[in-house]
Amino acid sequence: MSFTDVHHHLLWGLDDDGPKTRQEMYGMVRRAAADGVATLVATPHVAPGLRFFDGQLFLQRLEDARVYAAQQGLNLILLPGSEILFTPYACEMLRKGQAPTLAGTDHALVEFSPRIACQELQRSLRQVAQAGFVPVLAHCERYACLVRHPALALELKAQFPVCFQVNASTFLRRQGFWLRRFLKRMMETGLVDFIASDAHNLSSRKVNLSDAFKEVSKRYGEETASRLLGSNGKAMVKQL
Ligand SMILES: [Fe+2]
Repeated sequence: MSFTDVHHHLLWGLDDDGPKTRQEMYGMVRRAAADGVATLVATPHVAPGLRFFDGQLFLQRLEDARVYAAQQGLNLILLPGSEILFTPYACEMLRKGQAPTLAGTDHALVEFSPRIACQELQRSLRQVAQAGFVPVLAHCERYACLVRHPALALELKAQFPVCFQVNASTFLRRQGFWLRRFLKRMMETGLVDFIASDAHNLSSRKVNLSDAFKEVSKRYGEETASRLLGSNGKAMVKQL
């Protein structure tokens, strides 16, 4: 099984919480390939209007990682992307092409404050959709309003194109009542689009898609696991 990881903080020195050195990034490249990742979208944080995003440096670091993967003979395709914190400037940055979308497609990985209210989440996602992008809600299990009201996910999907991404690690840790209920509903109703690593380093937040694949296969069947960890992402990155 080869995986498509659509959320991965691979590039060094761009994120406060990502890899700190080139060597650490190289280690993450090797680790991703060893875990079975065949296509990886590098998604550093972008915080529109709050922090300068160095697009030039981003492309240099991506190229560095690509050259390294090729030198090592790894079967790993590395693509550009970002995880965009939704701020009043997010749509403008997207429209101007200053915040990388996932693999250059019309899909934009977006994140919010975990305590965002339902209406605000709905309004913000709609704004991204109205700007001409398909919002991919990063680690959707992190938003209390959605976890408490999973029906909102269905409502959103009915209103405009939107995708939901869950972190692989969420399937591998102990879940409380609300999270367990939310995931079960989302999975059983087919509302989850992608399971991705959201890897940040080689220790506490490392890539773990093979373990998640086993767990999701056990709970929901191998076909579902293959779709959410592989083919859905593959189809999305081939959109262009
Ligand atoms: Fe992330």
